Amino acid sequence: MVTTVMFEILVLYYSRHGATYEMAQLVARGIEEVPNAQARIRTVPPVSTICEATADEIPSEGPPYATHDDLRECVGIALGSPTRFGNMASPLKYFFDSTSDLWLSGALAGKPAAVFTSTSSLHGGQESTLLSMALPLIHHGMLFTGLPYSEIDLMHTKTGGTPYGASHTAGADSKRALSDEEKRLCKALGKRLAGIAVKLSN
Ligand SMILES: Cc1cc2nc3c(=O)[nH]c(=O)nc-3n(C[C@H](O)[C@H](O)[C@H](O)COP(=O)(O)O)c2cc1C
Repeated sequence: MVTTVMFEILVLYYSRHGATYEMAQLVARGIEEVPNAQARIRTVPPVSTICEATADEIPSEGPPYATHDDLRECVGIALGSPTRFGNMASPLKYFFDSTSDLWLSGALAGKPAAVFTSTSSLHGGQESTLLSMALPLIHHGMLFTGLPYSEIDLMHTKTGGTPYGASHTAGADSKRALSDEEKRLCKALGKRLAGIAVKLSN
């Protein structure tokens, strides 16, 4: 009997109003277009401004919170964050600031990674956010995979979509639907990441 080995790719995101979550689901769909690849979607809790505040270990809705085991066990990572003043959101940064043990052991070194973001405004910092998200991944020794211009949507999009990763312009209330180009680029990002991760793992 031949058993198929499935390779899991972590889709780790934070989202307050849902736009980045929608992107995460599309990235996951792209991942699952690749034979033997499976998406593992995880989020992170908000960071509290009150030292004593605690939250349940399991969120009341949506995907579970990420653990270090998720990072260790998956063969690649797609990281998604809303833009916060041109940078990644604190909850994701906070989570990565807890990963020194993985950095010391080199657990993520050599694994491919990709990033995606959502902003309110078109020139509100998509590229700077995506590059800020690449920094901890590169420190971990991960292989940063952007989007190549062979994805023709990059040339024609009037909203989000960058060579550094997928992006979405969600409007002031973060309610604007993803454009067709943005959707295809999210899926292309997941598919590219998973294709590379599976090849590297075989
Ligand atoms: C504190 C804060 C800072 C923000 N900074 C930016 C920014 O620099 N540029 C921008 O276009 N949008 C900015 N936004 C808007 C969010 O990036 C945008 O609404 C995003 O689509 C939210 O994603 P979500 O629906 O996944 O939560 C900011 C929002 C907050 C709350």
